[in-house]
Amino acid sequence: MKNIYFTYILVLLFILGIKAKAINEIEEEDELVNAIESDKEEEINLSENDDDNIINNVVDEVVNVVKEIFNNNDNDIEIEDEIDSDVDSDIEEEMETPTETEIPTETEIPDTYEAALEFYENYENIARNITYNNDGKTLDVYYNPLDTNTKKPVNIYIFGGSWVSNEKVKFTRLGALLEREDHIGVIPNYVLYPNGLFEDMVDNVYQTIQWTYNNIEQYGGDKDNITITGHSSGAHLVALTIIKAGLGIENNGVKLEPLPYLKRVILLNGPYIFNQEFIVYTLGGSNDTSNATSTDDPKEQALLTELIGIYFDNDEVSPIQILKKMENDSVKDHFNVEKFTFVYTSEDIIIPEFSAKELITEIIRTSPSQYEYIYLQGLDHSSIINGVITEKDEFENLYMDIITK
Ligand SMILES: *[C@@H]1O[C@H](CO)[C@@H](O)[C@H](O)[C@H]1NC(C)=O
Ligand SMILES: *[C@@H]1O[C@H](CO)[C@@H](O)[C@H](O)[C@H]1NC(C)=O
Ligand SMILES: *[C@@H]1O[C@H](CO)[C@@H](O)[C@H](O)[C@H]1NC(C)=O
Ligand SMILES: *[C@@H]1O[C@H](CO)[C@@H](O)[C@H](O)[C@H]1NC(C)=O
Ligand SMILES: *[C@@H]1O[C@H](CO)[C@@H](O)[C@H](O)[C@H]1NC(C)=O
Ligand SMILES: *[C@@H]1O[C@H](CO)[C@@H](O)[C@H](O)[C@H]1NC(C)=O
Repeated sequence: MKNIYFTYILVLLFILGIKAKAINEIEEEDELVNAIESDKEEEINLSENDDDNIINNVVDEVVNVVKEIFNNNDNDIEIEDEIDSDVDSDIEEEMETPTETEIPTETEIPDTYEAALEFYENYENIARNITYNNDGKTLDVYYNPLDTNTKKPVNIYIFGGSWVSNEKVKFTRLGALLEREDHIGVIPNYVLYPNGLFEDMVDNVYQTIQWTYNNIEQYGGDKDNITITGHSSGAHLVALTIIKAGLGIENNGVKLEPLPYLKRVILLNGPYIFNQEFIVYTLGGSNDTSNATSTDDPKEQALLTELIGIYFDNDEVSPIQILKKMENDSVKDHFNVEKFTFVYTSEDIIIPEFSAKELITEIIRTSPSQYEYIYLQGLDHSSIINGVITEKDEFENLYMDIITK
């Protein structure tokens, strides 16, 4: 068994190594926006199916990777762009079309809960604590009370926090950004472990989307122009909700009806499978779940360990595994989503990239859908969201670009 884990790590290092090399080959861009819109393409051969080849080259590559990791102090953002796919083409090749841009500013530490709460309570353009389901779960709507007649795009934000922590009041600045940019922001709280399990969380995300569709017009939102973003565990819950609803799978004993049409589903650094490979990556090469790195708080860490233990290798909570049971082209209407946008960042040591890639593969295999894969170099697991909630221009612009693209 040890050998298998070692091979996984080597393969991951190999993949990172190819990325590091590719970055050096790409020209620089000045602006994030330019990078996002740029057509520049770089072809890289990254086929994860090509195991033999990978293993043959692994020793040399690991040496190179280690060298590159130590030499590579650039903080460049690299964007792999843009794949609007219709049919099953060679995904791996198409996914690797990176462009590169300038160094982002360093991420600041977000406010403490108390400071965030104070900002939240003093923020004006918000409707607070609207109950959206029968359990009394609440959400906030960020909107301009002086202009509720023009129809504005709506962005729902499902925060991350390892399914065990976080609170909507910490994301006021994200809601404020949306409001300032002439959007409507919807940020719910949802049940967290151990007060609920994944099906309860999925229910909350599902109800949030339904509530938004049915109620957002009174705040000036366009119900036909709703996007939803999930980060980390939030991305997992969004993906799981969309897929369960798209397939009409039972959740907490109730068959989910199709969701309203969504303009964009934006998934930032999400885990979509809880298998051995994921655990090994997440735990930095060990399979000891007692050392989960996604949270520093020992209490949260213990809860996360428990949760992952419950769902380890569970086919019903992994969007990838659910789709693997489906035949090619068997899902109709593209899950009722116009386009999926996947974002992954090179310095994410918590979630492996294969998580995003495998989900893309399964989505377009079962329901040829429009999607985009954005690969950002130099950012960690939470850089984008932390950048937004500390009011960094680059990240605010990046967030808006990603959701409106
Ligand atoms: C971790 O690896 C050890 C040794 O390979 C194995 O005995 C153990 O069952 C593994 N634990 C888990 C949780 O997979
Ligand atoms: C990718 O592989 C093909 C064939 O295996 C080869 O012709 C091509 O040069 C390779 N591209 C790069 C960038 O290595
Ligand atoms: C709204 O909910 C937040 C928690 O998300 C809470 O801290 C705050 O006190 C509530 N505000 C009101 C007016 O109920
Ligand atoms: C936990 O993981 C970190 C990072 O991989 C490592 O540095 C640390 O030694 C590990 N701690 C234990 C108790 O295994
Ligand atoms: C389903 O699609 C995959 C990849 O898109 C392809 O490799 C496979 O052969 C297809 N299977 C069938 C039964 O058509
Ligand atoms: C939906 O919102 C986007 C911005 O996110 C905007 O570009 C687009 O024009 C809107 N679509 C419609 C039909 O209003």
